[in-house]
Amino acid sequence: MILAAFETSCDDTGVAILDEERVLANNLASQVHVHGKFGGVVPELAARKHLEAIPVLLDKSLDEAGCSLSDVDCFAATIGPGLVGSLLVGLSFAKGLAIASKKCFIGVNHLLGHLHAVFLAFSDIKYPFVVLLASGGHSEILIMESWEKYRRVGKTRDDAAGESFDKVARMLDLGYPGGPELELLASSGNPRIPFPRPLSEENNLDFSFSGLKTAVLYHLRQNPEESKEDIAASFQVAIVESLLGKTFLAADLFNISTVVIVGGVASNTLLRTEASLYARKKNLEVFFPPKQYCTDNAAMIGRAALEMLKRGIFSDLSENAVPYLGLNESY
Ligand code: KG4
Ligand code: ZN
Repeated sequence: MILAAFETSCDDTGVAILDEERVLANNLASQVHVHGKFGGVVPELAARKHLEAIPVLLDKSLDEAGCSLSDVDCFAATIGPGLVGSLLVGLSFAKGLAIASKKCFIGVNHLLGHLHAVFLAFSDIKYPFVVLLASGGHSEILIMESWEKYRRVGKTRDDAAGESFDKVARMLDLGYPGGPELELLASSGNPRIPFPRPLSEENNLDFSFSGLKTAVLYHLRQNPEESKEDIAASFQVAIVESLLGKTFLAADLFNISTVVIVGGVASNTLLRTEASLYARKKNLEVFFPPKQYCTDNAAMIGRAALEMLKRGIFSDLSENAVPYLGLNESY
């Protein structure tokens, strides 16, 4: 079985070709240079850029995979959540190819894609496990019981972790997206400023990041000469401690010994290092997707689609984009 997957939920155009065992090609066209000057994604521009990039990336991916369009057995695309104009490009492209070549089509929840990204590198992780999903729009803790059965046990009460990285990066006059830029700045800083760890005293699994963001803002206003490197490093330590504290608390409360961390923020090196240290100390196992599968990509969409394909779950061609799709609404 050969599957072609498309991811166009936000500002990265992703195309991947997979068989049941391997990723044969995985390509990404970033639009950072288009949106950077606006400080965030401009939806109309994003959709137009997807439209330009997607056929080029498909040709490149087929070449790298050593196959032709007629070898593809199934076309998969993200249906949501995301920007509606962007989603419609990938979705319509995949459906069009499925109709023209009389092959099947599978619509994939972007968040399910993030969860399954870890299986691209570690195919034999055993259920159940605790998952921290930390991206630009989501920060939640789930207990994953099977490929499509999961329970949400914690979530953010305000901003998502990636959103907080982006907002604090903007306060520090860094570019967009803020996470990688803030991480770079933090690497030469000293995490000496005691920013708060909101909700850390409470015995629940929820996050709150808006108080932390406000604390950074006030600190900057009151100390305009403060080292930006130290602010970045201190913010990064605070958010990483918050994320990991709750995630490992979930493992403890539910007596689960495997933890998986996915989503764009999972590419943060401090988060990965600290999680591995903590897991070793507690005799737990922790897994992350390789960094290129943490941020948005089409290989993860293909990996989730393969789970559906294996079980004979196909989508109707009337499937539409769902901008506010949550994890529980489609599975
Ligand atoms: O999963 P993702 O690529 O897109 C969404 O589905 O939202 O996540 C993007 C988010 C952005 O907020 C970005 O700033 C953050 O992930 N991010 C990072 C890092 N790389 C990306 N945050 C912290 N450290 C990083 N290295
Ligand atoms: Zn994402």
